[in-house]
Amino acid sequence: MGQGDTARTAICPGSYDPITNGHLDMIRRAAKVFDRVVVAVAGEAQKEHLFSLEERLAMAREACAGLEGIEVRAFDGLLVEAAREVGAVAIVKGLRDPADAVFEARMAYMNRTLMPALDTIFMLADPNYIHITSSLVKWICRLGGDVAPYVPPGVIEKLVARLRPR
Ligand code: PNS
Repeated sequence: MGQGDTARTAICPGSYDPITNGHLDMIRRAAKVFDRVVVAVAGEAQKEHLFSLEERLAMAREACAGLEGIEVRAFDGLLVEAAREVGAVAIVKGLRDPADAVFEARMAYMNRTLMPALDTIFMLADPNYIHITSSLVKWICRLGGDVAPYVPPGVIEKLVARLRPR
């Protein structure tokens, strides 16, 4: 299916503070199912972030460069509105464990009441990535651990520069 009127768009929202290999795996897999995937990076208002919106966008864009059918944009406000703006037919989220499922199901039900036509589709995280969270990666980096196995190459130096001041 091409990018015409019938192209199916999914939105993959998140803080991406920073983008991890787990996020990237989900995004790549979503792009196999949908014609177009919009990686929607939540703005500053949503919560406290280590990296600015511009930094998070830049890291996500670098990580997704060369991946077909994937674009990275910022969003603020309600996710369902961002989904409407980009013409998404589904929100795609990854689930790592039952705790993710409980939390994500609550948001999915709420989003469904806000916009019944927009479905949330869950993909189970690949076992190679289920231990990776942006928060744990930041913690490990702050304590001097090697984060190379968990994040795209371009993110490593940004984490080290921010979390290990000389
Ligand atoms: O990577 P995160 O921090 O788990 O991402 C959370 C995010 C940005 C997906 C979530 O906070 C969100 O959907 N924010 C948009 C605001 C919104 O629509 N809130 C109501 C959800 S029921």
